[in-house]
Amino acid sequence: MSLQHIAIVMDGNGRWATKRFLPRLAGHRQGMESLRRCVRACLDRGVAVLTVFAFSSENWSRPPEEVSGLMDLLLNALGKEMAQLQADQVRLHFVGERAGLSDKVRSGLDEAQAATASNARLRLNVCFNYGGRWDIAQAAARLAAEGQPITERTLNEATALAHVPDPDLIIRTGGELRLSNFLLWQAAYAELYFSPRLWPDFDEAELDRALAAYASRERRYGHTSEQVAAVGRHPQAA
Ligand code: IPE
Ligand code: IPE
Ligand code: MG
Repeated sequence: MSLQHIAIVMDGNGRWATKRFLPRLAGHRQGMESLRRCVRACLDRGVAVLTVFAFSSENWSRPPEEVSGLMDLLLNALGKEMAQLQADQVRLHFVGERAGLSDKVRSGLDEAQAATASNARLRLNVCFNYGGRWDIAQAAARLAAEGQPITERTLNEATALAHVPDPDLIIRTGGELRLSNFLLWQAAYAELYFSPRLWPDFDEAELDRALAAYASRERRYGHTSEQVAAVGRHPQAA
């Protein structure tokens, strides 16, 4: 079954660290290694789009040292990973509210995005200071300011992920069974896979289990099973 876009809630870094009597930031650092491995696995498997949840609108509520540590980790990773991202033709997009981020973080994100803008093998959307409700509200506000009608099509085109098709598969690691304000609009017909693995322990084998689960699903988009069988492929959303 075709799959273009995988989205992941990378959850469980803090627990991974706490289990090892390490500071939470050590878990986030290990989570970054896991993301690097996951990008490699997606490249190897020919996935076109990978979207990851790195920092939510709600994560500002964490202790200030953890928040600033996450900001520093992102900036450091951009510096360290840029050469490999270029070599692998990965195009970065940062998705989320820019207001609220420091000038340093904002310019780091903008520069990394511009530097990879002509890469075309894998689109990597990093949701940072992102919330699904923020995205829907900013899209509606933009249309209202432009005096445009609000329809499913116009709103969809105004969302922060309008440059990619909706996710086919959403994976959440860390064992929680919730979306936590991730891709609320775009998740409408995504297949969901919840992994008990903590994000730093998510590896190729677990990705392949998620892909196998996805391949076994029947995406009906409101049709009956018989209709799907008659067409011989999965129907599209209306
Ligand atoms: C996910 O891991 C990363 C971020 C939210 C930034 P957590 O930090 O939420 O890890 P747990 O859920 O506390 O284990
Ligand atoms: C969701 O994880 C956000 C990210 C992975 C970036 P959280 O750990 O913040 O979610 P809750 O608080 O358990 O719902
Ligand atoms: Mg968590």
